[in-house]
Amino acid sequence: MISKNPQLGKNRELQHLLTTEGLPTSILLQILDTAQTFVGVTEREVKKVPLLRGKSIFNLFFEHSTRTRTTFEIAAKRLSADVFNLNIAVSAQSKGETLLDTVDNLVAMDADMFIVRHSQSGAAHLIAKHVRPGIHVINAGDGRHAHPTQALLDVFTIRHYKKEFHNLRIAIIGDILHSRVARSQIHALTTLGVPEVRVIAPKTLLPSKVERLGVRVFHDMKSGLKDVDVLMMLRLQKERMQGAYLPSSEEYFKYYGLTPEKLSMAKQDAIVMHPGPMNRGVEIDSAVADGSRAVILPQVTFGIAVRMAVMSILAGQPV
Ligand code: CP
Repeated sequence: MISKNPQLGKNRELQHLLTTEGLPTSILLQILDTAQTFVGVTEREVKKVPLLRGKSIFNLFFEHSTRTRTTFEIAAKRLSADVFNLNIAVSAQSKGETLLDTVDNLVAMDADMFIVRHSQSGAAHLIAKHVRPGIHVINAGDGRHAHPTQALLDVFTIRHYKKEFHNLRIAIIGDILHSRVARSQIHALTTLGVPEVRVIAPKTLLPSKVERLGVRVFHDMKSGLKDVDVLMMLRLQKERMQGAYLPSSEEYFKYYGLTPEKLSMAKQDAIVMHPGPMNRGVEIDSAVADGSRAVILPQVTFGIAVRMAVMSILAGQPV
């Protein structure tokens, strides 16, 4: 059982970022507003600020990643931190060292912050509970549980294009069951006051009692996309599927793949988002992925400013 908020200190300040569940609106807005200031930095010729000079940040990625690992590294370097990417494949984990022993050894090398991706839900929580005060942990995706910085960069992107949260209808489409991104998005969007968050998926790809998260459930794109302002696509997470959830990828694309025809069922100015990696021809057609309504690559760019914001806020907390 993962305890709900070990990420907040005694004055409810952010000490670790582990999940968007239970994060106060004030902290979500603090991260978004701080990220906005860093967008200016990332657009300058000299893209560095000295906020994390002398800090040592360790990227611990036990699962593959393109966007998250790289943008955390860029963000840390732009804050002038020293960044170390542990090469898990050649680390002593392969000789049987435990996760916490690895962490203790990196702390002995003066680690200030850990960015953790792991296939086991709760891995980042475990490290956060283990390390001494003053060392911060950011969850970069744990199992099916949470991917908070992805959700934060998603809401940053939505605010950039749509300005407000209180008047939006947002649909999350695809493999909700296996998606840590969807869970983190739902918690962030509902906390920020989005009045209607929808999930659109076949029954086999929805968690039981998903409506308890505060979402409306749809099983078909036509009714689910009506009057929607933002479409958040998800890929089929086959690496977390045990058994058959769908007849075939082709069948899935026919009913849930986002084509220009299905996109026309949403509002005319609706934007299309995707956390990546995309599977073209499965959950999204190339004509949409590369089209004018897609904001998929801006999401990646905003991820740098959002991750700079999270790291700088954590590093600025009193011990
Ligand atoms: N969105 C996301 O987490 O992508 P990566 O797996 O490439 O980090």
